[in-house]
Formats: sequence, C-alpha cells, structure tokens
Amino acid sequence: MIIAIDGPAASGKGTLARRIAGHFGYQCLDTGLLYRAVAHDMLSRNISLEDTQAAEWAARSLDPARLDDPSLRLPGVGNAASVVARMPGVRAALLDLQRNFAAQEPGAVLDGRDIGTVVCPEADAKLFITAAVEVRARRRYDELIGRGEPVTYEGVLDEIRRRDQRDAGRAEAPMAVAADAMLLDTTNLAIEAAFDAAVGLIKRKIGQ
Ligand code: DC
Repeated sequence: MIIAIDGPAASGKGTLARRIAGHFGYQCLDTGLLYRAVAHDMLSRNISLEDTQAAEWAARSLDPARLDDPSLRLPGVGNAASVVARMPGVRAALLDLQRNFAAQEPGAVLDGRDIGTVVCPEADAKLFITAAVEVRARRRYDELIGRGEPVTYEGVLDEIRRRDQRDAGRAEAPMAVAADAMLLDTTNLAIEAAFDAAVGLIKRKIGQ
C-alpha cells in the first residue's frame, strides 16, 4: 500500500503524512529531507548551490540515517533544498531510495512535491494538500518564532512565495497535482479536522 502526499511549502503535509502513517501502521518518509540533506551538505562545505556535479555527488552519497538532524529543518536549508532540487541528476540519484522505501510492507506514506506524479505514479491513494499562501506563511511563522528563530511574517511569506514558484516552475518533476489526486485545502481547517478529512478521503479511495 502506497499513500502519496504532495503539496506546497508549509501546507501541513508533513504533519498529516506522519499522522496518517501512524493511523494505518505504515512507515513515513518526508522526501523534502532528502533534498534538504543534499543542500545542507553543500552549505556546510561552502560549495556553491549551483555546482551541479557537487550536488549530484552529495545526493549519491547521502546517508539516510542522518535525516533526523534538526539543522535540516532550518528555513535557509529549505530554500537551498529548493535550488538543488531543480537539478535532474540530483533527483535521479534520490529516486531509487524513495521507490525502495515505498515498496515496503505493509505500506508506506511519502510526502513531497512529485510523489504522485513521478516517484510513485502507481500509488494507491494520492492527496494534494494545499492552503492559502498567507495561512501557510502564518503557520510557518508561528512555528519558527516558537523555536526562537529571528524571522518576520513578511520574510516568511516572501520566502514561501519564491519557493512555490521555483518548485512549480522547474522543468524536472515540478510540483503538480496528479490527475488522480484528491485535493485537500486546509486553509480553514485545524490539524485535527484536516487529519480526519485526509483519513476519510484515503479510506474511501482504498475501499476501507
Ligand atoms: O517539503 P520541504 O519544504 O521540506 O522541501 C524542501 C524542498 O525540497 C522543496 O522546496 C523542494 C524540494 N523537494 C522536491 O523537489 N521534491 C520533493 N519530493 C520534496 C521536496
């Protein structure tokens, strides 16, 4: 069983994916962390984010055991991840890892930008989670302020807009709604309501 969850930055798809995986007893992979790990490796070695060869090398030598490093979640790393994620060689290097993860029994939940379209087009259920950009920025701002990060609402909003544009506008595996995806707009939904709605959609789709 494969559940694909895609959506733009700060849509809440990561939280939903984890909770959905817990509900069904499946493993969960936040695929954004893979791109974040590549970007973090480049940043920590002071390598230009435009260095395609170095980025591909970082993607091929990525250690999945290090995806729980909290520094991968810093806002600057998300932006840098979106830059290296444009590179076809980086995406190709991360594909097998994602597909192998998806193949495990009894099931897997993967969240990202291209799970339903490119990584797992055969997924049993596909959700595309979205919300108004101002609401996504507000949620991300509150989360970052809660962690003591020195951010402004306007700065967060601007970064999310630029990231959405880059992720949806790239040539290779752009963020897109799969033709058979179910849309869930969480603009006016708190997390509990969003979770209930997501589980309802998935159960209907897989016939449970
Ligand atoms: O989901 P996130 O914000 O952690 O993702 C960080 C960046 O990684 C995102 O801006 C684009 C890229 N990404 C991608 O291109 N494809 C995915 N499946 C997941 C993330």
